[in-house]
Order: sequence, then C-alpha cells, then structure tokens
Amino acid sequence: MSYKKKPLNLPGPKAKAFVEQDSTYISPSYTRSYPFVMDHGRGSEVWDVDGNRFIDFNAGIAVVATGHSHPEVVKVIQKQAEKFIHMAGTDFYYPQEIELAEKLNEIRPMKEAVKVFFTNSGTESVESAIKLARYVTGRPRFLAFIGGFHGRTMGSLAFTASKPTQRAGFFPMMPGVTHVPFPNPYRPLLQGEDQGEAVINYIEDVLFHTMIPANEVAAILVEPIQGEGGYVVPPDSFLPALRALCDRHGILLIADEVQSGMGRTGKMYAIEHWGVEPDIYTMAKGIASGMPLGAMVARKSIMTWPPGAHGNTFGGNPLSCVASLKTIDLIQNSLMDNAAKMGKYAMEKLGAMQAEHPSIGQVRGKGLMIGVEIVLDREKKTPGPALRNRIVEEAFQRELLLLGCGANTLRFSPALTITKPIMDEALAILDDALTAAEKAVL
Ligand SMILES: Cc1ncc(COP(=O)(O)O)c(C=O)c1O
Repeated sequence: MSYKKKPLNLPGPKAKAFVEQDSTYISPSYTRSYPFVMDHGRGSEVWDVDGNRFIDFNAGIAVVATGHSHPEVVKVIQKQAEKFIHMAGTDFYYPQEIELAEKLNEIRPMKEAVKVFFTNSGTESVESAIKLARYVTGRPRFLAFIGGFHGRTMGSLAFTASKPTQRAGFFPMMPGVTHVPFPNPYRPLLQGEDQGEAVINYIEDVLFHTMIPANEVAAILVEPIQGEGGYVVPPDSFLPALRALCDRHGILLIADEVQSGMGRTGKMYAIEHWGVEPDIYTMAKGIASGMPLGAMVARKSIMTWPPGAHGNTFGGNPLSCVASLKTIDLIQNSLMDNAAKMGKYAMEKLGAMQAEHPSIGQVRGKGLMIGVEIVLDREKKTPGPALRNRIVEEAFQRELLLLGCGANTLRFSPALTITKPIMDEALAILDDALTAAEKAVL
C-alpha cells in the first residue's frame, strides 16, 4: 500500500503569513502541531488558503460528525438564522431547545427518563455534572482517572490528568478529587491479569480503607474510552464493575461522552458497548456538526436543582439546536452504521500494517475512535513520542491531517461520513508517512 506522492514543502506562502499574524494576536497556549490554515471543507476533505487539498482524519477534534459543512446541516442553520439567532434559554422558551432535549431523552443510554442542561462546550458540560452531583448527593468528594481529560476550566481541570502542562501553574485545584489508575491492558499500572478488576479492587480495598470515606464520594467521573489520554479502551470487566461499586456506596457514575459519544464508536454512546447505565453523562464535540453546543444529561429523578441553581446565557443556542437535531437524524439513519463498518475496516488494515511497520505498538479502538500507539521497540513497548510527532509531520506534508493523543499515540477520529476510497487514500498516505518517519528516527 503506497501513495507514492512527493511530500510538499508546507506551509505555502499564504499559510505562512497567517501563521505569523496569528502569533502576534492569538494566545500562545494553543497546541498547533503543524501550520494548517483552513480555507474551506466538504465532508472529509479540506483545503488550505494556498489551495492544497488535505484529508481531515480528525474532523476538527472529533467534532464534525457529519463531515465539513454537510449540506443538510447548513440548510437548517441558514433557515434558523433568518428566524432568530439567540434568545437565552435560561430566561425564555423556544421550541428548538425543547425538541432537542426530547430527542436526547429518546436516545438516552438508560431506562430512566432524563432531563437536559444545555451548555456551550465539553468543559462546561463537565462543570455542570460536578455541580449537580454535589448538589444532589450533598457529598463533597470525587474520583477521577489518571490519563483522563475533562476540560480546562477550574472545576473540570481538577479532574483532567492527561498531561502535566495542562495543570502546571494553575494549582491549587478544586479540592476533593482523587485520581486512580485507568485500566490500560497494554500498559498496566497495577498487578493482576485483569486490569479492570485490579482498578476496582484498588478503589474498594485500598482507597476506601485507607484514605477516602466512600460515603463522602459524590461521583466517579470516567471516560468510557479515554480520549485525549491516548484512546485507551478498558477491558470488558471494568465499567460493569465500576457501576456495581458505585451502587454499593451510593456514588453517582458520570460518563464523560464528550469525545466518545454521538455515534462515533458505532453506538450512540460508548458506554453502551458494555451495557452500563450512567447516572449523569456529558456531551459536546460531535453533537451539532461543529456548532458550539454541549449537554449535561441526568436521570430525571436526580436533576432536581431549583431555579437559579445553574444557568448560562448561550447554552442551547437555537442555531446549534437545529444543527444538532439534523446531526442526530443523520447519525441515526446511516452514520452510526458507517462508523462501525469503516472503523472495523480501518482497524483491520492498520492491524495488517503492523507487519510492515515496527513502530506500531498497538492498534485499539471502537468504531471511528481509533488509536495507534507508536513505539521505538515493540517487544519492550518503549514509547516513541518524537517518532509519533514525526509521523504527524510527514503525514501533513503528504496532505493528511492527523493528531496525536497521549504521549505517543496517533488518534484517528474522522467524520462518520468517511467513504472507503477516502479511507484507503488516508491509510496509504499514513503508510508512506510511517515509512519516512521510521527511516528518519529508528
Ligand atoms: C472527554 C472530554 N471531556 C471534555 C472535554 C473538554 O471539551 P471542550 O474542549 O469542548 O471544553 C474534552 C475535549 O477534548 C474531552 O475529550
């Protein structure tokens, strides 16, 4: 499998000028890996300001589920913009927000009916979940997982633990959050064959017997599949046992589905792969095809806070709501199936590429949430962060947009609309990028 395309010498002149201008005016805290400057996009293809055409293998960090500027999504946004753009759901009513909440209730991953609090982003969804959990339980403490990512505002940041730079300089964090290992079968942190079981035993037998009174824990916040931390899929034992642990101690289970939700993994919510019901779940990213929207959803019987306890100005923006209703419609009709089918196809092809590429340590994922862990030595599993970065750069020069996650993993989170020809083209470019990077680094 070879794409045989000469690498370009990017950035082009217009992109270069914009990047320079950006560095003058924009916060340096962003983490751009390479100088891609977008002009326009359609589906899984994007064009830069110099007219170069790229394949977008990350869909704006797992956001544009329906691909860039899906015509049906564009149409409903345009139509809504002509009616009204904003009205503040905190203080007024409008049908678009109510209809979306009803839809989210219809597609909930649990038996009990749910109520929805709309937000503007993933971090705000998590903030809302933390507040609700404290309010409804009257308990002060939380558990979170090493490698987890939940956002960067002061509440969610206390739970985020995927890279020290995200926390450095910002202490003290919100108190009461204790981190435990996330079960990673490829890189186990605890002893034991079954890492899911090992983590649960650690919480129950060590933590709750030495440090943390279980009856003071309001909630456990978990990504059913870790995203930013490295696209880590837990063993099958883990989430059911975590649910049982929560039930034993009256602790709420909050599933952060901001990255793994909305059909990306081949199910509407990743937690459904394990038949586990959360008490609260959070969403954003793929919910509205790129329009800013998030949601914190909870069992009806616990969403009991009174008027004024929580609110916002922009949450549930009507343009975002109509975009979300159309997005969910498209996901339900065909895109979730496509995610499962194309994900399986990509995983098989990536698995086969392991034979040719010594740097591929592990291929893992569900649906179109796929991680490829890059190593310097497969036997010793020596992490290869610089090699991973080189692969990302080589791919960019061949017009494939990739992102990393964790210290040394490549993440693939393309639009759920991705077609087989585009997938084949992307994997062929990746093959060449791997060859070039391995030649340079190994
Ligand atoms: C699982 C998860 N939760 C929360 C967030 C934060 O979302 P946002 O960047 O929209 O605040 C992210 C973002 O990557 C995420 O992956």
